[in-house]
Amino acid sequence: MSETTNATNAQNGAVKNGAAQKSDVVIDVKNLRKSFGGNEVLKGINCQVHAGEVISIIGPSGAGKSTFLRCLNGLDTPSSGSIVVLGDDIADPKTNIDKTREHIGMVFQHFNLFPNMTVAENITLAPTLIKKVPADKARARALELLRMVGLEEKADANPESLSGGQKQRVAIARSLAMDPQIMLFDEATSALDPEMVGDVLQVIRDLADKGMTMLLVTHEMAFAREVSTRVIFTDAGVIEEEGTPEQVFGNPQSPRLRSFLSKVL
Ligand SMILES: Nc1ncnc2c1ncn2[C@@H]1O[C@H](COP(=O)(O)OP(=O)(O)OP(=O)(O)O)[C@@H](O)[C@H]1O
Ligand SMILES: [Mg+2]
Repeated sequence: MSETTNATNAQNGAVKNGAAQKSDVVIDVKNLRKSFGGNEVLKGINCQVHAGEVISIIGPSGAGKSTFLRCLNGLDTPSSGSIVVLGDDIADPKTNIDKTREHIGMVFQHFNLFPNMTVAENITLAPTLIKKVPADKARARALELLRMVGLEEKADANPESLSGGQKQRVAIARSLAMDPQIMLFDEATSALDPEMVGDVLQVIRDLADKGMTMLLVTHEMAFAREVSTRVIFTDAGVIEEEGTPEQVFGNPQSPRLRSFLSKVL
């Protein structure tokens, strides 16, 4: 299939419902701008994401990384431009963003598990409520996902009894319970004690191996280099440079990227 045909597929929704092929464009961002008051935070972002890509977004604090991810699932409303996700332009106020959001999971720095529910209940809530999955099926799927993140024995635990890393793995399982086609991670490991980071990164690595399309904002440069198919360096609201991990980390071109890497590597 040609690039154009695939882009058209993204436009007309042909890649929805699990049908995305490796070369399909699942996210197509054109000239995305976002201002908060007089502060323009995203200054014309263009970005196409193909099914199965694992994209790390790196860059200094305030570059607009979180704002970009938040725009991708409708948590922030773009000031202008278009964001076509699985065929729907979510920058268009007429689009039912809740429908599109079912296909995009997002995991934040802070886990926000519901403290008054067990781990399993946290995971089954959205599928039973939104997708009307029967309780027994939702529970079975929750146990399967907990096994995947190494926490099957915690199904009936209270989230408060878990460590930070365990909570974050539950948060990932909770996102996956909606069977998203795309996962967004915004510094999923930054709030964790160092010894917890590895287990969470392993879960993300496993997802990458399974072909999940992912965008990761991360400060874990070694991990970004290892797991990504593409790395995007953002600075001051623009994509300053992008390429394979080898290109971006091994042969950076932009002085701003070189300066950034000299500080973080
Ligand atoms: N809701 C908001 N209202 C006003 N300004 C905002 C809002 N959200 C973000 N900003 C501003 O937008 C800019 C980009 O913020 P953003 O959180 O996207 O950066 P970031 O690259 O994720 O930074 P960090 O690495 O520190 O998380 C910052 O100057 C921030 O103050
Ligand atoms: Mg951020």
